[in-house]
Amino acid sequence: MTAAFPTVRPRRLRATAALRGAVAETRLDPSRLVVPHFIIPGHDTMEPIPSLPGIYRMTADVAVKQMGHDLELGLTNHLFFGIPDHKDENGFAAADPDGPVPEALRLTKRTYGDQVLAIADVCLCEYTTHGHCGIPDSHGHILNDPSLARLADAAKAYAAAGADWVAPSDMMDGRVAALRHALDESGHETTGLLSYSVKYASAYYGPFRDAAKSAPSFGDRKSYQMDPRNVREALREAALDEAEGADAIMVKPALAYLDVIRAVRERTNLPVVCYNVSGEYAMVKAAAERGLINEAAVVRENLLGMARAGADLIITYHARDAVEGGWLQ
Ligand code: PBG
Ligand code: ZN
Repeated sequence: MTAAFPTVRPRRLRATAALRGAVAETRLDPSRLVVPHFIIPGHDTMEPIPSLPGIYRMTADVAVKQMGHDLELGLTNHLFFGIPDHKDENGFAAADPDGPVPEALRLTKRTYGDQVLAIADVCLCEYTTHGHCGIPDSHGHILNDPSLARLADAAKAYAAAGADWVAPSDMMDGRVAALRHALDESGHETTGLLSYSVKYASAYYGPFRDAAKSAPSFGDRKSYQMDPRNVREALREAALDEAEGADAIMVKPALAYLDVIRAVRERTNLPVVCYNVSGEYAMVKAAAERGLINEAAVVRENLLGMARAGADLIITYHARDAVEGGWLQ
């Protein structure tokens, strides 16, 4: 005889906030988040970035002072991008030991030591006149192997300045092996390597290119960044980087690629990192400013989605607001 009422009641586990907290499968906390920084040369200066409301380009001293507050919030993980004064065809400034990123790394480590996980993005696009992540030939083709030496030099400079991890985002083939070799040879065998292994050619990077002044002056990045139609290719990239010695694997962007985060998670035992990129942030801010969504609730849901998909770490421009506002709970 069938009961006239349900005997199995999933709602029992949703009855109170305490109960929901007790059975929650995914938990967010500040140690899972990474705060990005755009470092400019000079002192005591910050400038707003129009395409990223609430985010500023800052000189190293200002960024490092702010980091004290981040540490009180439990935000220990920080990623640095540099916006140099001088650019050239080959991006030599990326490896300048007096550039904005090495300066920020030295000051961070001098001030906070190992309380901070300091990650340095390694790429050429912020440092090249043409804005590509590698070196072009006279026809505008991006040359793979000559770019590796420039990237390796940058990685060594950041390791020497105190980076715990270097994070190549250029998408040249073989760069994890090249950087690992260069680091090991120069006595930086303990410096970690977070590879932007699975980086798609995405329109979601628009605001970042504005922030970092790194938009390509000709062509696009499709000959080196991945095609959004592919997921098997993502697994191939991740496996190669793992074999070449990466310590952690990144998937980027995050929201339109949650299936990719999940697929990578299921195939590697390395930490998986995702990048909640500039365009994803800007869309949330724009909708919130117009009163169309509840920013706190939407950010929480987005971050939960990334964590649930399998990301151990999430790089996000929302980090401070989310922790300060109690949005993670
Ligand atoms: C540069 C780099 C980009 C991002 C991180 N590193 C932009 C690009 O490849 O054009 C994007 C980050 C973001 O959109 O927040 N190699
Ligand atoms: Zn780049």
